[in-house]
Amino acid sequence: MDFTLKVWRQKGPRDKGGFVSYPARNISPDMSFLEMIDVVNEGLIEKGEEPIAFDHDCREGICGMCGLVINGVAHGPEQTTTCQLHMRSLKFMDTITVEPWRSSAFPVIKDLVVDRGSFDRIIQAGGFVSVSTGGVPDANAIAVPKDNADMSMDAAACIGCGACVAACPNGSAMLFTAAKIGHLNLLPQGQPERLDRTLNMVDQMDEEGFGNCTNIGECSAVCPKEISLDFIARMNRDLIKASFIKAGAKKSE
Ligand code: SF4
Ligand code: FES
Repeated sequence: MDFTLKVWRQKGPRDKGGFVSYPARNISPDMSFLEMIDVVNEGLIEKGEEPIAFDHDCREGICGMCGLVINGVAHGPEQTTTCQLHMRSLKFMDTITVEPWRSSAFPVIKDLVVDRGSFDRIIQAGGFVSVSTGGVPDANAIAVPKDNADMSMDAAACIGCGACVAACPNGSAMLFTAAKIGHLNLLPQGQPERLDRTLNMVDQMDEEGFGNCTNIGECSAVCPKEISLDFIARMNRDLIKASFIKAGAKKSE
């Protein structure tokens, strides 16, 4: 297969950047999207040109490092990660535009690579869970209701790729933050810090400059792990509860 790529090139955070066209020739339908960029980059290196910078690591859909806006859609036409997207899914396209995530909270470092440190700081704001030290507890000593265990596992599937932010017209990180909060808030081990965790992570999310959620749902539609909008509702319930308790505590001081 042959394509024309229109790739966002940007030398650094202060560079204005712009699209540059490259031919992608003899591409196998079974190549992943990243393998296709590898082929284009080999050609650029042979010609002595600067290869296209992009993020990747596992290439198995589990690390969350990859992420490109392909023809205007975060991770492209399939609901999967960019590394798991195969060129056969783009067989009817002649021209493919490739851009980095667009969000003020994800500044471009170079070409298609963005700084997602804001996500790390949100997770860091969540702190840790209280665990009694000492002897190893018996397996299954803490009973977890099956529904909660399942939902917690669903939330834990979030790989922190940032597609939800890139897809949201408000640049909101609510789906990511809600997944990270929901993962621990559903488990007995996550209860002691439940409300503090929710307040601190949401505060950090706001501080990082992400927008607010207006229930558009684009985030969940592109999420490669199909994180449900229900987690945002759960987070909002915990946030309201935490805010009331905090306000009550301040009043009684
Ligand atoms: S919620 Fe989905 S789209 Fe957002 S960071 Fe997690 S895995 Fe990626
Ligand atoms: S490179 Fe790890 S999820 Fe794509």
